[in-house]
This record gives sequence, structure tokens and C-alpha cells, in this order.
Amino acid sequence: GASMTTLDPGFGNTASCRSEITYIDGAAGILRYRGYPIQELAKHSSFLEVAYLVIRGELPSPGDLKEFGEQLSANAGIPAEMSALLDALPRNGHPMTLLAAAVNTLAAYYADSVDPKDDQQVETATIRLLAKLPTIAAHIYRRSVGEEPIAPDPSLDYVGNLLHMLFGDGSGDSELDALYAKALDLLLLLHADHELNCSTATVRVVGSSDADIYGSVSAGINALFGPLHGGANQAVLEMLEEIRDLGGDIDSFLAKVKDKESKTRLMGFGHRVYKNFDPRSREIKGLAADILARQEEPDELFALALELEGKALADSYFTDRKLYPNVDFYSGVIYRAMGFPTNMFTVLFALGRLPGWIAHWREQRKDPATRIARPRQLYTGPTERSYPGQG
Ligand code: SDX
Repeated sequence: GASMTTLDPGFGNTASCRSEITYIDGAAGILRYRGYPIQELAKHSSFLEVAYLVIRGELPSPGDLKEFGEQLSANAGIPAEMSALLDALPRNGHPMTLLAAAVNTLAAYYADSVDPKDDQQVETATIRLLAKLPTIAAHIYRRSVGEEPIAPDPSLDYVGNLLHMLFGDGSGDSELDALYAKALDLLLLLHADHELNCSTATVRVVGSSDADIYGSVSAGINALFGPLHGGANQAVLEMLEEIRDLGGDIDSFLAKVKDKESKTRLMGFGHRVYKNFDPRSREIKGLAADILARQEEPDELFALALELEGKALADSYFTDRKLYPNVDFYSGVIYRAMGFPTNMFTVLFALGRLPGWIAHWREQRKDPATRIARPRQLYTGPTERSYPGQG
């Protein structure tokens, strides 16, 4: 038989699996960043403060937070050559494809901050990634809708500046804009880290070869793009629109999902780890209710999502398989209400997950036990055989 090799835990060493950043209890539906429960951070913190916490391990003092925000505002610009590169990328490209490509070139535009063994360069790259990804993402978005890019405004805070670069002067209703800014801040916060999910594991694997942080994050963006992972928030909206276009016939859709032949998944449901409610989906569902309650007419897709969740959770096919709404189930209806096209939803997930990717990359680099990721396999191919005609 095939020579049996032992399967190493993780990626060929246990160091990659030890971390102090995020704790998840899938059975109990618990999520904590550096020990703080997600519910408390959602209630009292901000995305910027949580980004600092996830990366540096402690909540910042008010002074540290202010300085952190100023550092990011001061570094939000991108080189003119990079703007020209973004303008030259194919307009019909998915924003995630273009974002991954652009982020990889940061290693070329900022070649003075690519050495993973130089603490100062790692610090500089950390600030540049956090500061510039919103600018790059907004530039890609503006071009995708045929608009001129909007330069970062250093007088605005992180999320305010992101919304400014995306939508210019907003809706004109300052109260609604403030609500949307608060909602986007919470959504980014809820996405900030999630232990060794597919994209973060990718960032660790690439970083384990001493590759630079820009290339590692670019790899993470590509992994996140997949519809089984971060791309699910876009897939959920497309699923809801499909059901709506079928006259809202949820029962037929669920019957299709349960028919394995159809290979149709209930997007936004299920999780590799959570076999209970994803605590983030509870927070986002509440936020969606607040936001959409302010709209003149009820949002038909949100109403459909609520009905779909209700029916799925009453159906043993899903509860027997421990399939509950995950972080992607409700986020898209909020992004859509805020005016984002569906192809930008996963870009927003990437902007939220960026602090987690950076934190894991830095933690792995600091761990002396870390070795290059080198998973082993179980060989199931042919046993030894000779080339024909060898006599
Ligand atoms: C994210 O890992 C992370 O932390 C990710 C994330 C993060 O913050 O980084 O939380 C973000 O990616 C959330 C997940 C977003 N993806 C989706 O919503 C896509 C739909 N969900 C799935 O495709 C699926 O649930 C996965 C990919 C999330 C998990 O896949 P698994 O682990 O293979 O699913 P499973 O082992 O739990 O499946 C158990 C059973 C299987 O059926 P049986 O073979 O036992 O009959 O449930 C079925 C699966 O086929 N199943 C589904 C389903 N998910 C699993 N059936 C219908 N619809 C689904 N969504």
C-alpha cells in the first residue's frame, strides 16, 4: 500500500497553531479578541481601537489611540504611480481581484518596509497597510462606477475618511450619514479577526517563508474572495435576489438546498467552527433591524432574509447539521442599504479583517518556534513501478 506518512497538526509545525489573539468556542458561540468578549467590544469600542487591540495586544490609552489615528491619516495617500496603476486595471475586474493585485505591488512602491526581520520596517508596513487599503479600495470602487477617485481627507477619522473617499459628501442627510458611519465602524470591528480562518491561515503560510507582509496580505485577500469564505456576503445577496425573483418561494429554495444533487448551499449559513449561533451574526442582525427600520418602505431582501432564517432554523436538515447564520448572512443587506454594490461587500470584509491578518503575521514572526509551513500528505498514488522496456 501507499507509504503512510504522519499528518502533522497545522502546517507542519505546532507553532503556527498557538496564538494569543482570538479565542473562539464554536459549541458555545463565544468570540473574544485578546480576552474581551465581542459583545462588549461591539457595544463600547471602535474599529480603530479594536485594530490597535488586536495588533498590539492591549487597549490603547486615549493618547495612544489619538496618535494611532493621526499616523493612519498622515499615511492615507498613495503614490501617483499607484493611482495610474489602479486606473490602468481592467474596469470590469472584480474589486477583490484588483485589490489583491494592488496590495501586492505595495512591496514594490514601499521597498523600504519589506524586511520581516526588521521591527521598524514591520511597524512602518503595518501603518502603511492600515492607512492605504481604504484609499486603494475606494479608488477601485470609484473607477468601477465610472467616477473620479476622491483623495483622503486627513481631517476625518478612519471610517469617516473611508466613506468620504467612497461616496464624497454623503447622502445630504447628516443624521443618516452618521448612522451609516457608526454601522460601518461596527461591521469592520466585527470582522477584525477570527483565529485561523482560511484567509488568516493563508497569510500565516505565506509569511512563514519569510515573505514580506504585503505579499502575505495580498494572498489573504485572494483566499477571502472565495464564495465559501468572505465572498459569501456577496453570495447571500445574490441568493436572496434569486429567491425574490422566483416570487419569494423560500420552501422551493430550501428543498433545492436539501437536494444534494442541486449542489445548492444556503449561503450565509454554516461554519467550520461555530456549531451554534455565530455571535457576530446576532450583532449584525440587530444592527440591520435598526438601520432598515428607518427606511420608508421595509427592505424586501431583509424581510426575506428574516423569513429564510426562520424557516431554516425550524428545519431539522439545518439544525441536525448545526447550520446557523454566520457573519455573512446579514451583513450584505446593510451594505446594500448603505449604497454599496454587491461586488464591494467582500472588499469591506477585507478592510475589517486587515488588522487580524497583520496581527497573526506579526505574532508568527515573533515566535522563535515558528518554522516554514510544510503540510505533509497521505500518499495514495501508485506504489513503485519500472519504466517500460527495462527488461
Ligand atoms: C466565513 O472560518 C472562519 O472563521 C470563516 C469566517 C471568518 O470570520 O473568517 O467566519 C467567515 O467564511 C463564514 C462562512 C461563510 N461561508 C458561507 O456562508 C458559505 C455557505 N457555508 C458553507 O459552504 C459551509 O457551511 C462552510 C464552508 C462555511 C463550512 O463547510 P463545512 O465545514 O464543509 O461544512 P460542514 O462540515 O459543517 O457540513 C456539515 C453538513 C454537510 O452535509 P452532510 O454531508 O453532513 O450531509 O452540512 C452541509 C454539508 O454539506 N452544509 C450545508 C451548508 N454548509 C454545510 N448545507 C447547506 N448549506 C450550507 N451552507
